[in-house]
Amino acid sequence: MKVLGIETSCDETGVAVYDTEAGLLGHSLYSQAIMHAEYGGVVPELASRDHIRKLVPLIHEVLDKSELCLTDLDGIAFTRGPGLMGALLVGTSLGCSLALSLGIPAIGVHHMEGHLLAPMMQSNPPPFPFVALLVSGGHTQLMSVQAVGRYEMLGQSVDDAVGESFDKTAGLLGLGYPGGPALAKLAEHGDLNRFTFPRPMTDRPGLDFSFSGLKTFAINTLRDHGDEPGIKENIAAAFQQAVVETLVNKCRRALRQTGFQTLIVAGGVGANQCLRQRLETEGKKSGAQVFFPPMEFCTDNGAMIAYAGALRLAAGQHDDTSLAGKPRWSMQELPALQGKP
Ligand code: KG4
Ligand code: ZN
Repeated sequence: MKVLGIETSCDETGVAVYDTEAGLLGHSLYSQAIMHAEYGGVVPELASRDHIRKLVPLIHEVLDKSELCLTDLDGIAFTRGPGLMGALLVGTSLGCSLALSLGIPAIGVHHMEGHLLAPMMQSNPPPFPFVALLVSGGHTQLMSVQAVGRYEMLGQSVDDAVGESFDKTAGLLGLGYPGGPALAKLAEHGDLNRFTFPRPMTDRPGLDFSFSGLKTFAINTLRDHGDEPGIKENIAAAFQQAVVETLVNKCRRALRQTGFQTLIVAGGVGANQCLRQRLETEGKKSGAQVFFPPMEFCTDNGAMIAYAGALRLAAGQHDDTSLAGKPRWSMQELPALQGKP
C-alpha cells in the first residue's frame, strides 16, 4: 500500500510516500525557520500561508522522487493535530480533497504518534513494549507503549516543553530561532564546572517534568555574571547538562517502574547529541536497549506521518474526508491498531 504523508502542523512542510512493502519511497521537507527567525518564533498566520505556497510543489517533487503519479497512491495521511489550527487546516484540507478526488481512503494522523513511531522506520525496529520519551517543541512526555495505539501517559511537563525551554534559553543568550541546535553547539565550548543548574523535580518521586525554572535560572545567572568571559557558553553547557540529566533520570525511573527493557526517544530534541550519548551510556549500564529515529526524522517531517498513516490505513482504519484539524488532541484517545504490529 502506497501512502502519501503530509505534515503541516507548525513551521515545516513535510511530504513523503511510504510503501508498506518497499518502505520509504521518497520524502522532502521545506523549513520556514528563516522566515520566522526575524520574529523570534513561529508566526501562525505566516506559517499557514507558506504551507499553502509550498505544499503542492513538494507533493509533485516527492511523487517524482518516488517515480509515482497521483493515481498510483492507495491512501493519504495528513497531520490532523496537535498543532497550529491554520497550519493544520492546509494539510487537512488538501489531504481530504486529494483522497476524495482520487477515491482513496484518508487518515488524520496524530503528530506525536508520528514522532513516536519514527524509530520503527528502520531495518532493526524496537520491540514492543517500550517506554517512549517524546521531546519536542510543544511536548515532553513519557509514555508506556504496549503496541501501536496502546499508549499510557507516565509523566509529562507541567509547564514548558523541553524544546520550548531550549528555544527560550537560546533566545535569552541571543541565539536566533530555533534555538535548540544553536544552544547545543554553543554548549560544546562551555565549561561544565562553572555553573550547576538545578535538576527540576528529581528530588521527589514521579515522572513529571518542569523546565520553566531552568530558564529563570539562566536569566539570573546571566544577570549576576554577565561580564565574565565565556558566560554564554558556560550557561549553555550547564543548562544542557541539567536538561539531559533530568531526562535521563526520569527515563531510568520509567524503565524501572514499567519493567520494560526498551526505550525509544523521539521528537526534535532527540537530535541533541548530548542526550543521545548520555542515554546510550545509561542503556549500556542498565541493560536497556535505546532506539532513536535517524537524525533527519527527529524533527518534523512527512515520512513519520506517511508511516504512521500507512500502518493505520493498512489495518483498515480511515477517516471521513470532511475532517477538521484538531489543535488539541491527546494520544490516549487514539484507537489501538488491530492485528500486526
Ligand atoms: O519535533 P519538532 O521538530 O517540532 C515539534 O513538534 O515541536 O521539535 C522542535 C524542537 C525545537 O524546540 C528545537 O529547538 C528542538 O526541537 N531541537 C533541539 C535540537 N534540534 C531541535 N533541541 C536541542 N538540541 C538539538 N540538537
Ligand atoms: Zn513535531
